[in-house]
Amino acid sequence: MKTVTLIPGDGIGPEITEAVQSILKAADVQINWDIQTAGADVAQIEGTPLPNRVIESIKKNKVALKAPVTTPIGKGFRSVNVALRKELDLYANIRPCKNIKGIETPFKDVDIIVVRENTEDLYAGEEEKVNDDCAKSIKTITRKASTRIAQYAFELAVKENRKTVWAVTKANICKLSDGLFLECCKEVSEQYPSIEYKEILVDNLCMQLVQNPQKFDVLVLPNLYGDIVSDLTAGLIGGLGIAQGANIGIDCAVFEPVHGSAPDIKGQNKANPTALLLCAINMLKYINENEKANKIEKALFKVIEEGDVKTADLGGSSTTSEFTSEIIKNL
Ligand code: NAI
Repeated sequence: MKTVTLIPGDGIGPEITEAVQSILKAADVQINWDIQTAGADVAQIEGTPLPNRVIESIKKNKVALKAPVTTPIGKGFRSVNVALRKELDLYANIRPCKNIKGIETPFKDVDIIVVRENTEDLYAGEEEKVNDDCAKSIKTITRKASTRIAQYAFELAVKENRKTVWAVTKANICKLSDGLFLECCKEVSEQYPSIEYKEILVDNLCMQLVQNPQKFDVLVLPNLYGDIVSDLTAGLIGGLGIAQGANIGIDCAVFEPVHGSAPDIKGQNKANPTALLLCAINMLKYINENEKANKIEKALFKVIEEGDVKTADLGGSSTTSEFTSEIIKNL
């Protein structure tokens, strides 16, 4: 039986994790979950929000399913999510964004894949307080990280039969750092003559994404722009409750939703488990459990398309548990 690391996270994390575990169990998925806690509560007991045991578990199992973990805002410990990606060199953050039948939004025919560099940029948290009135953040962009994320984006475009890779930067302002990212993307693009290569500034991209999202295909971005733009693309298809993601490294992968720990709805049985379930489905495909993955996906999409049982984020009034039971009924 395959062992997979499971990080239940905090906030809505444990609720949606329980939902996903029960759906996988009902679908008779044979997985041995290696449950690893992380976050603020763990820090109180173990002195760090990301104990080494979590990293070691993922290194050993090579695959993890992870619910969101809260990061204190403006103070406190470094993000567990960022630290995990850095420690395991999970350099590619893949966030597909495609309309789901039954979820009405003003945007039709959206089918975008966000490929976000996941290890450097302003996300590295290299900050310095110069004095009480001045703080600095260092934006580091390297040739190595930019080239490998560009290669990942082009390889993905080939594999998924995509037409265009758009390199997204603010290289008109960050001429050296984003300029280097762009230079690497352009260089890599020359090895893929069958894929069209385009460049766009991130501000213009945001405007065009809400006017004409159908125009876009694969987007490759430095870390921070990737983070922001992928929340925007999630909004195009119905919101964070349905936005899945994956962090891919050389020899391990951590599947986690785009959304955070949603403290505003924590413990209320309101959270939509779809994003984490889509991550789990993707994880099952990654470990070659395609049949089970397809079975769960079919049940999920059927429930969403019928629309009688949906959570509040999608305009419904069903609870997490009701939505979960309905998927199980449809397996
Ligand atoms: P958030 O993504 O947690 O929430 C934004 C909005 O979306 C909230 O109104 C929330 O209720 C809603 N939402 C999110 N997921 C939902 C779901 N599954 N079902 C229904 N509604 C959902 O973003 P926010 O509030 O900015 O961040 C909260 C915390 O999460 C912060 O500490 C942040 O650092 C952390 N975070 C963690 C991430 C991770 O673990 N990978 C990713 C993003 C944020």
